[in-house]
Amino acid sequence: MLPKSTTPGPTGFPHVLSSASTPMRIYRGNMKGLVIYESMFGDNKQVAEAITAGLVDGGLSADAVEVGVAPTAIGSDVSLLIVGSPNHAWSMPRAATRADAATKTDVPLVSQGIGVREWLESATLPPGLRTAAYDTRGSHPKAVVKFDHASTSIDKGLTKLGGVRVLPAQHFLVVDMTGPLEPGEIERARAWGVDLVSRLMV
Ligand SMILES: Cc1cc2nc3c(=O)[nH]c(=O)nc-3n(C[C@H](O)[C@H](O)[C@H](O)COP(=O)(O)O)c2cc1C
Repeated sequence: MLPKSTTPGPTGFPHVLSSASTPMRIYRGNMKGLVIYESMFGDNKQVAEAITAGLVDGGLSADAVEVGVAPTAIGSDVSLLIVGSPNHAWSMPRAATRADAATKTDVPLVSQGIGVREWLESATLPPGLRTAAYDTRGSHPKAVVKFDHASTSIDKGLTKLGGVRVLPAQHFLVVDMTGPLEPGEIERARAWGVDLVSRLMV
């Protein structure tokens, strides 16, 4: 439960004072964050939800939306857009790699329609929208993990649409093709969400 007493904060937005038992949370007015994700086995979805929790920790209202049902015309009510996909064959998933993924599991894939690659082809953003990109990828071999894959392409795609990058693209690691995420990745994703919000005011 947040305390009721408020004063103007350093950003000019209402600022809720902390108490001994409540971490300080700065409300960013009615700023809204949107996380659009593509996911086959659920790992990228978990990261999207953790980033969204971080945006909320940072003071935004925020939603995570699967790319197949995400809007392609991003409204001017959105202040921060984050887009993520898994790495498939060094890049964003394609129809063929999604079909390949479906053969690796007995449960339905999370994303069954278009992916981030197709979304970027038809998306429109308000001018100057603040954006960030992330991907999920295998955690080994180490040399390969360092290559930039899907997130770099997403980042470029968002910039081409007029987005303004808040932080460099981020990567989150899975133990194996179908997951799970490496230990600590959920916490790291949530912290990245908080960091993104803090950069909005810079
Ligand atoms: C067809 C296919 C190709 C993949 N190619 C790569 C790759 O090139 N590099 C990599 O690090 N991981 C690769 N992976 C692993 C995925 O990145 C991993 O399955 C994904 O990040 C897990 O997220 P998800 O559960 O949300 O789909 C591939 C996975 C599949 C199914």
